[in-house]
Amino acid sequence: MTTQQEAVLTPTPTTPTTAATGAVPALRAQVTGDLLDIVVDLDSGDGCRLRDLRDGTEYLDMTMFFSSAPLGHGHSGLRAAEFEAELLRAARIKPSNPDFATVEQARFAETFRRVAGVPELPLLFLIDGGTLAVENALKVAFDWKTKRNARTGLAVRGSRVLHLERAFHGRSGYTLSLTNTDPAKIRDYPMFDWPRIPGPAVDPGPRWDSPELLPEEKVALDAAESALRRYGAEVACFVYEPIQGEGGDRHLRPRFLRAMQELCREHDVLTVADEVQTGALTGGAWAHEALGLEPDLVAFGKRMQVCGVLGGRRVLEVADNAFREASRISSTWGGSLVDMVRATRILEIIERDGLFERSREIGALLLTELRELAAEFPSLLTAPRGRGLMCAVTFRDPELRNRAIAAARTDHRTLFLPSGPDSLRFRPPLSADPSELTAAVAALRATLTSLP
Ligand SMILES: Cc1ncc(COP(=O)(O)O)c(C=O)c1O
Repeated sequence: MTTQQEAVLTPTPTTPTTAATGAVPALRAQVTGDLLDIVVDLDSGDGCRLRDLRDGTEYLDMTMFFSSAPLGHGHSGLRAAEFEAELLRAARIKPSNPDFATVEQARFAETFRRVAGVPELPLLFLIDGGTLAVENALKVAFDWKTKRNARTGLAVRGSRVLHLERAFHGRSGYTLSLTNTDPAKIRDYPMFDWPRIPGPAVDPGPRWDSPELLPEEKVALDAAESALRRYGAEVACFVYEPIQGEGGDRHLRPRFLRAMQELCREHDVLTVADEVQTGALTGGAWAHEALGLEPDLVAFGKRMQVCGVLGGRRVLEVADNAFREASRISSTWGGSLVDMVRATRILEIIERDGLFERSREIGALLLTELRELAAEFPSLLTAPRGRGLMCAVTFRDPELRNRAIAAARTDHRTLFLPSGPDSLRFRPPLSADPSELTAAVAALRATLTSLP
């Protein structure tokens, strides 16, 4: 590069504060999004504390960039000089990972396998974005079912996806036909008419431990069975979130999901666990493991930094499945190498510090505190619930929930996410300090006390 070109590329100097002051209005004017009135200081932050670059205001952050930052803000392990050098090396150019090998990608695959791998799911496909992870899991299932049908002499395409009410699997292409939370997310877009069955979530309490199927679970299973009879060999897979996150932190009982799994096996239909939100959040790498489930495909993203699909079990019964047959699933980048370098480091820290095990302990503490809070405000809060760090509580009504989230931010400098129509979700990092979780519950208590 000539000196003249370098001069052209040098940005006009601005003081950090000038740039920061203008960031929110500039972005609001130009880019679609739901921006909070905060400018993230990427150089600081500490655990659950996020700093506003404009004036140094500190927020206690229980949102973690929509649950995608498993080590919180400013983790020392992500500031080590040798790691920063690795990041920089991977950032200078963006290789097309499916076509060109790098040591960095190989290290990521190996580390991911070691820390979060499932031995029965040996196939791995990588791509950017949770939605595209789910889309590609569905494509594997369509391909699988169509090939299975052909082998039994049936010229029928596996082209339907059995799914649950209140599901969220993404907002594009195939996934839009599955997502049914907020109507604004799907209204008027063209969609496939795929079989949808009730999502029989159960709140904590004695019913949760019933060894028998509950009446609402039987209704859902009956609906699944009639859909499977009606559409027969067209149904390729059943997709579910082990805990429905966007739908309102709705917990499905393992008893029900296992019954669905059995039904799907009887009908030669694959099961797909969408763990984009539950991955690295519920006290281990995957919620399906804690629930004793055996999905054939697992879609992941968010906290893993890199998104993609793990496959195995019955997928392997078709030797030329879509992971193996060339060009059936692919993309230019196959995920970003920078994300892979960061993910490798994060997984190493999780492993070194035993953060999955620890998150079970601090999650239990958070849930205890939420139960106490709900007991203090019985007319406002119900159903404190959680698995690992995926905790939530239901508000009396949506309006109260929305006011509480706004007041917690402005009056108590604490950030919470809504969940479904009337719930509030906690999404702290695996590395959270117990005192930060206690402080967040205290902020919610203060918010509820002072709400008009
Ligand atoms: C369960 C689930 N699936 C899929 C997605 C879509 O992921 P992304 O927003 O990364 O495309 C999300 C996002 O919240 C999710 O929670």
